[in-house]
Amino acid sequence: MSRFRPPSIPPSQITDETVWKKRRRIMQAAGVLGAGVLLAGITEAGRGGGRKKEDDRLEPTPYRYITTYNNFYELGTGKREPAENAHYLTTRPWSIEVSGECEKPGTLDIEDLPRLFPTEERIYRFRCVEAWAMVVPWEGFPLSKLLKRFQPTSKAKYVEFRTLYDPERMPGQKRNVLPWPYVEGLRMDEAMHPLTLIATGLYGKPLPAQNGAPLRLVVPWKYGFKSIKSIVSIRFTEKQPRNTWHVLQPDEYGFYANVNPAVDHPRWSQKRERVLGSGIFADKQPTLPFNGYAEQVAGLYRGMDLRKYF
Ligand code: MTE
Repeated sequence: MSRFRPPSIPPSQITDETVWKKRRRIMQAAGVLGAGVLLAGITEAGRGGGRKKEDDRLEPTPYRYITTYNNFYELGTGKREPAENAHYLTTRPWSIEVSGECEKPGTLDIEDLPRLFPTEERIYRFRCVEAWAMVVPWEGFPLSKLLKRFQPTSKAKYVEFRTLYDPERMPGQKRNVLPWPYVEGLRMDEAMHPLTLIATGLYGKPLPAQNGAPLRLVVPWKYGFKSIKSIVSIRFTEKQPRNTWHVLQPDEYGFYANVNPAVDHPRWSQKRERVLGSGIFADKQPTLPFNGYAEQVAGLYRGMDLRKYF
């Protein structure tokens, strides 16, 4: 695969301008302007590369949309319910068990994460399988850093993730809408890819409960249901994990779930997407293959029939 290059979305287009300007001053003062992922857009432009054409149509997604229009069935099935029920989900204490095919299984305490895995800002497109899209300035660290610490063996072909199961803190689990706990999985090379993130915050603030506090997965080239929230367990496996939505509706949701305008959902088209916050009369925009990250990830699927492995 070619050298990893973070996608070139100009931060000024995503973050509220005042917040971004302030942060830019801090970065300049620290002498790191042009060094970080946060400033990928600027460095690209500085090199004369300019922005990618498709980035021109990006609209900033304000914090209030990212945090009040959610899919998090553990906190309710309505789009506003996760924010309304956020107070149920207390996130301290919190630990993550890492097990399965690895040399050093163990437990991580949430309080130790900042020391072990310093965070950075990653501005990613996010595309739900329901055909809405947004752009999110995540705060997080590459999943690969966490996984390497536990020394996966050669038998580790996949990684399985589980969400907390606790109906008191996740009242949605009192209803049988999904088989609980929520489970997701990635192939090992997908999990180790530098774009794959563990997010602990957004817009420079700790992750709100409705967005998957205290930590969630973010896989920007896949439909949002792969980005599992409020993780308590990570397991290296030899077999492909049985991810929740696939178990529930295997004809509608696959394991791979790569964003693909050429493969429609059985009940709706995936060719276009609605941008959150753009208003009900706004035109939809075209869906991009791999959600705009084809250059970085298409190689992972070379030779695979993406209609079969949807
Ligand atoms: N993780 C858990 N545990 N439970 C869920 O219901 N919903 C998924 C994903 N992760 C979900 C989850 C879906 S369908 C989407 S689109 C994203 O979370 C939504 O993330 P957001 O609410 O932060 O936008």
